[in-house]
Amino acid sequence: MFLVIIRVVICPKNKRGYYLITYSNISELRQWLSSSRKAGKTIGFVPTMGALHEGHLSLVRASKQECDLTIVSIFVNPTQFGPTEDFSKYPRTTGEDATLLEGVAADVLFLPTPSEIYPEGASTSVDVGEIGTIFEGEIRPTHFAGVATVVASLLNITQPDITYFGQKDLQQVAVLKKMTRDLHFPIKISVCATVRESDGLAMSSRNRYLSPEDRNESLLLNRTLIHVETSIRSGISLSDCILSGKKFFAENAKTAKLDYLSIVSPETFQISSSFNESETVGVIIAAKVGTTRLIDNILVSDENSASGRITSAVTNAS
Ligand code: PAJ
Repeated sequence: MFLVIIRVVICPKNKRGYYLITYSNISELRQWLSSSRKAGKTIGFVPTMGALHEGHLSLVRASKQECDLTIVSIFVNPTQFGPTEDFSKYPRTTGEDATLLEGVAADVLFLPTPSEIYPEGASTSVDVGEIGTIFEGEIRPTHFAGVATVVASLLNITQPDITYFGQKDLQQVAVLKKMTRDLHFPIKISVCATVRESDGLAMSSRNRYLSPEDRNESLLLNRTLIHVETSIRSGISLSDCILSGKKFFAENAKTAKLDYLSIVSPETFQISSSFNESETVGVIIAAKVGTTRLIDNILVSDENSASGRITSAVTNAS
């Protein structure tokens, strides 16, 4: 309550006349949720780790269009970072984030502490099975258990009607759709298109780590995806598309190191053996540019004639 009062007092109403209410405490958030539900409001929820950019804001805008009230969480989740990863260095820019959220008229910012999310002695974790062990899961073995566990907690806390994720993290979407389906979460998942810089680089909180040379080199990820998409559409076998994509990457890379490049089912992340025009395939890539690991993907289907486009698909997970 104290935090809410401070926020309302120190933050002037933004241009649209909205206040961003901030809670760091689960029980206060639940009181607000309970009165919002009694008033018949629908709730949209956008989980994030902060360092917000247009990609995150596109999810908030989608939620504002479809739901009466929108909650955004910012929580840099320790359990999804491996021991050698950038947890302590991960950008924390809460003041700027709150201003951006006011600009898009989000209703509530949930800013929990680690001990609020993981109470003393917490030891439960969500294991989604094989899909969490391949591609990103092979390189980051504990990552998806950390993601699934924190998202399960956040969904239990917020109990939204719809939760919003970005296609940018396509395997995360597949993992979370599987979790909500397997465990009967009564929540819809909406997936929003990847927002890119004008030169094609997918927006990411980690892009700020890139030096000017690395920033230029990072364009190779999207260029390789487009090269593979063109090969798929030319009708050659998918294994040849991948060989051609890897050759393209190797010939154009100055410093970037490819982790993987594959064509998969976006639902299961199993490798696709052929391009059936009635089914969508995902072209996925991960590479290290300087000290920064970047991932990107595009979906290719018959209707999806432009690279990197996806419609906002709503899956009823109940
Ligand atoms: P974070 O990386 O902050 O991303 C929050 C949400 O924003 C995710 O759904 C992500 O896919 C989406 N997003 C990121 N960049 C995007 C872009 N360029 N275009 C569209 N959407 C984009 O993903 C996480 O946090 C965490 O794993 C989380 C789900 C919050 C669990 O801790």
